[in-house]
Amino acid sequence: MNQRKFFSVLIAGLLLAAGSGLAQAAPNAALNAKFGVCFSCHGADGHAILPTYPNLAGQNKDYLVQTLREFRDGTRPNAIMGAMAKPLSNSDIDQIAMYFANIKPGTK
Ligand code: HEC
Repeated sequence: MNQRKFFSVLIAGLLLAAGSGLAQAAPNAALNAKFGVCFSCHGADGHAILPTYPNLAGQNKDYLVQTLREFRDGTRPNAIMGAMAKPLSNSDIDQIAMYFANIKPGTK
């Protein structure tokens, strides 16, 4: 996907999220500030806003950590997630992985 297409997909995702009312706020303001962009696609409750995005609620924490590191270093190439994971530190990754892993799936 070229960069232009990537950004239009990204913007479309964000607009959709905004259109859905962003009732997708995490209970914690600090988490919203840091990971609000993630929630705009994957849902603050870990249930994705579109069927083409993965649900993360209840996913194994170690899997989430591993896959986010792979997106970040490019060993799991994906245009959207590569860009999303790039700025994350190891401790950011641990924090968001723990957050999603602790949500009970199917609670939407
Ligand atoms: C524009 C929508 C969008 C945003 C924003 C977004 N993601 Fe994703 N995410 C996706 C898509 C699409 C995939 C599937 C990628 C693939 O096919 O490899 C994905 C995959 C993932 C996966 C792997 C799931 C699996 O089952 O392997 C994780 C973990 C993840 N995202 C976490 C995050 C985090 C953390 C953020 C914020 C830093 C974020 N995402 C932001 C769309 C998004």
